[in-house]
Formats: sequence, structure tokens, C-alpha cells
Amino acid sequence: MGCHFSCKTSCGPPSLEAVALNGQPSKEKAANGTSTPRVSLSNQKSVSPTPTSSLCNQKAVMEYVSLSHGSGRMPMVGLGTWTAKDEEMEAALEMALQNGYRHIDTATDYHNEKVIGKVLERWIKDGKVKREELFITTKLPVYGNRASDVEKWLKRSIDYLRCEYIDLYLIHVPFGFAKADSVTFDADGKVALDNETDHVAMWKELEKQVEAGKAKAIGVSNFNKKQIKKLLAVAKIPPANLQIENHIYLQQSDLVQFCHANKISVTAYSPLGNPSLQGFFSKLGITKEIPNVLDCPEVVEISKRINRSPAQILLRYNIQRGIAVIPKSINSERQKQNIELFDFKLTDEDIQALRSLDRGEDGRIVRFEFFKGVYDHPEFPFKEA
Ligand SMILES: NC(=O)c1ccc[n+]([C@@H]2O[C@H](COP(=O)([O-])OP(=O)(O)OC[C@H]3O[C@@H](n4cnc5c(N)ncnc54)[C@H](OP(=O)(O)O)[C@@H]3O)[C@@H](O)[C@H]2O)c1
Repeated sequence: MGCHFSCKTSCGPPSLEAVALNGQPSKEKAANGTSTPRVSLSNQKSVSPTPTSSLCNQKAVMEYVSLSHGSGRMPMVGLGTWTAKDEEMEAALEMALQNGYRHIDTATDYHNEKVIGKVLERWIKDGKVKREELFITTKLPVYGNRASDVEKWLKRSIDYLRCEYIDLYLIHVPFGFAKADSVTFDADGKVALDNETDHVAMWKELEKQVEAGKAKAIGVSNFNKKQIKKLLAVAKIPPANLQIENHIYLQQSDLVQFCHANKISVTAYSPLGNPSLQGFFSKLGITKEIPNVLDCPEVVEISKRINRSPAQILLRYNIQRGIAVIPKSINSERQKQNIELFDFKLTDEDIQALRSLDRGEDGRIVRFEFFKGVYDHPEFPFKEA
């Protein structure tokens, strides 16, 4: 199984405090004189900051959302890793750790857990970071969406990531595909579905993994409100997190409020509207116009006025809504922008302007159309646009 990280107890109590990435509580003020903002979510406690150590980026600070179980908190900014593979991923993660990232978002189905594990192990062995300073999220693959497969896939992720536990283990999607080692297709190019997907049975198995210490916290991704309610009705350990697409064109305020009211933290994926997806869809022959969220005129106007990049405006908007963000970048300068979010604040007027840009379901970018036939699954979660 290879050499694993030292596994100590995980870090401190629930916190929403800003912590300077050089290990000091933030005293920074924005150019306009506002203090570093605190995120206040209903049902979330604020306690003293826990210093992080041995970080290189002196400028950025970090805030945390509370988790209802596990280590009790999650950095509000993490590194997204979808589509980044092997050498590209290795270099990107090396840069990200230097730039102060400690929260990494991956998944079995991104096929990059091995290289991520290699880099993390190197940093720990070199004494540049401690395991308990890292927050690693990974996800059960769609072709493992059944109770009897949970343990196997979680164990494989732990092996690949070379850690003894996962900080947050998510069911990646609510629908399920045929049992296999990857997505399988029929002769018509349709995915082989498993229509028997049983969320409650899977959840019980995830709870066992928490009890066994293999996952500190468990949650779901791409689930709708009805699906989450069903879990809440039976869970001994309620979901700590929901990961969903979230940006100005798809704000999902009702779902976010529901989660926060039920002590479920929310993480935004594709928080920049993933501009690279246009090419990804075209390569697959899917005709779909992806809105360029980064070019949105209202975002660009605020960006110029307060001298921050459009990406920072988009990310900061979600942070002020109490939503964690996991922007993906393989570029060091863009990574720095994407984590430097805690020394400025959007005004109420800016927040209002950005809120009005919501397009509801029309704004959804990731509808899983690259899995032909997936809409036939009984647990497909999204309403028609
Ligand atoms: N749970 C799920 O089903 C699910 C689905 C999708 C994504 N995710 C997770 O969420 C993460 C983020 O979502 P995503 O990768 O879809 O999209 P994203 O983070 O919204 O966008 C990534 C794209 O934006 C570019 N970019 C990054 N920072 C930028 C900046 N400051 N200015 C301009 N462009 C910038 C990146 O290019 P460079 O790399 O060249 O900088 C990349 O092409 C994923 O990587 C993955 O970890 C989860």
C-alpha cells in the first residue's frame, strides 16, 4: 500500500475565523479600510483561529466553514482538480501548496488521486505540511453507487491518496451506473445504468466508514432537496456537506438556504463557470453554448472599480453567501488570485447586483449530458431547464 502519512488527530474545533496563511490570525484591512470579513452562517459557531504552519503565501488568509462532524471545519477555498492529470496535476498541486492551498478536491473519477497522493506525501515527508493541516475531499464514483461497493472505493482512494483517512467523502452523484471499474456504454453509446440506486443503504455504509475512521466527514454532491431530505430522515450522521454547481448564473439559493438551515455546509463547484468546458463539450460533439461567467459585464464593472480580477469577484460573492469554493487552476498566478479573497468585501449594492443575475436552471452548465441516457435514471436530480 506504500508509505502513508503520519495520522494524528485532526485539527481543531468548528471555526469561521480568518487565519493568515503564514500562521498568524489576520489583521489585514482592505484598501477601502474594511476589516477582513467573517462569514456568518446560521447554526455555525465562531471560535479562536487555529494557526496553520509552514506556508509560503504571506498575503492570503483563510476562513473556514463549520462541519457538523469530522474535523469540524473546512477551508472555504480549495483547489479543484477535475481534468488536471499526471504531470500537469503534479506541478499544479506543488504550486498550489506553495500558494497556501490546504484543501484539495478530487474524485475517483478524475483519475488523478495517485499523483495527488504522491505530492502530498512528499510535502509531509519533507516536513512542509502536517497531515492534519490538509483537508482532502474525494468522491465515490458513479459506477460504485451501491452499498456493497462503498468500502472498496473508499479504500482505493485512501491508498491512492496515501493517507489513512479522507477528510470529506462524498457520493459524487445521486444516479448510479452499472457495477464496473469505469463508466460502461451499450451499443448505442448510452451509459449502462443501474436503476436500483439506494441512497439510504449507501448512506448507512458511509456512516460505517466514519465509525471505522476511514472518512472523517461524509456528504453528497449533485443531490437535490428531496434526495437530501430522505437522507436526513434516517441518518445517524447527517451529511456534513453538499457540493453543487454554483456561480452567478446558477445560484440555487433555496437549496443553499435549506442546507444551511440543516447544518449542511455547501461547496460551489465550477465557481468560475468553467470556461474550458466549451472545448470539452465540442470535442464530445455536444452542441451547447456555455455562458462566459468571467466576462459578465456586471462582474467586469465591479472588478475594474475595486481593482480585483473577475474571478475574485465571482469567488468572493460565494464566500459572502457562506459557500466554500473550489476553483481549479494549473496556473500559479491564477491560483494566487483565487485564494486571495479575504482582504476585501463586496458592498451590499454589489451583492444585490450579482444576486439579480441568477438564471435559475437555465444557468446550469454541468447537466451530465456527456453521459448519454443518464436522464432516464430515476434519481437524475435536475429539473429541465
Ligand atoms: N461534484 C461534481 O460533480 C463536480 C463537477 C465539476 C467540478 N467539480 C470540482 O469543482 C472544481 C472546480 O470546477 P471546474 O473545474 O469545473 O471549473 P472552474 O473552477 O469554475 O473553472 C476552471 C477553469 O477556469 C480557469 N481559471 C481558473 N482560475 C482562473 C482565473 N483566476 N481567471 C481566469 N480563468 C481561470 C481554469 O484554467 P487554468 O487551469 O488554465 O487556470 C479552468 O479552465 C473541479 O475542478 C472539481 O474539483 C465537481
